[in-house]
Amino acid sequence: MYRRPIFAANWKMNKGPSDTEAFAKSFLNKLTGRQTSDIVIAAPFISLAVLTEALRDGRGIEVAAQNCSQFDDGAYTGEISVKMLREILVRHVIIGHSERRSIFGETNAIINAKMIKARQVGLKLIFCIGETLEERNAGKLESILRSQITEGLEGITAHDLEDSVIAYEPVWAIGTGVTASAEQAQEAHAFVRSVITDLYGAEVSGKLRIQYGGSVKPNNAAELMACPDIDGALIGGASLDAQSFYDIIQNGSPS
Ligand code: PGA
Repeated sequence: MYRRPIFAANWKMNKGPSDTEAFAKSFLNKLTGRQTSDIVIAAPFISLAVLTEALRDGRGIEVAAQNCSQFDDGAYTGEISVKMLREILVRHVIIGHSERRSIFGETNAIINAKMIKARQVGLKLIFCIGETLEERNAGKLESILRSQITEGLEGITAHDLEDSVIAYEPVWAIGTGVTASAEQAQEAHAFVRSVITDLYGAEVSGKLRIQYGGSVKPNNAAELMACPDIDGALIGGASLDAQSFYDIIQNGSPS
């Protein structure tokens, strides 16, 4: 089954509106040829409107938020609703990133509530899962991934998944410079796909794109993307520089 790769930049808490505009200009200048992968950029909330405006040139790069509220509207100080994101033409939302789980206490149940809300307004999900080193060393890789997937996707339909991606990001590889080996990544991705097959059937799992995330760089993108179950990447640190994000996409995309 052919799956078009999808590369997403996750800028985390970097780049306000002016840096965002400068990045967009520089990145678009590089992106001249035909692209064989989908490209998404996840900027901080305050930079999203600038980014959608800067990317409105028809080259198809889509904008993502890095989080959303699980509530509709009302007395939730500091939160941003899915409707607000739609209003400024955001297309995707990252939900369940390990930093949201570990620093901001997001449980599988909260992540699930956010994903349900996001789907109600048609936002495409970038649903992140992944184990810590401790969990991996304790032999819990599969049980952790299975519970993150089953609890996170409760009530999410096969139709919802058509538009969405799962990002497998081993926590020990995020921002550390340690990448999972291609074998480790492929093994985890194949397992994630098998869980999706159990839950939704082979047709849905065969179409689902599963991104790898965790210290993806221009020099390891090709090897990772060559694995049969790896369909793109979620890139943190190396996406902050337009040249390096571009190089990852070029090196990891089919020719
Ligand atoms: P990294 O981050 O590429 O800096 O490791 C990936 C992520 O957290 O999505």
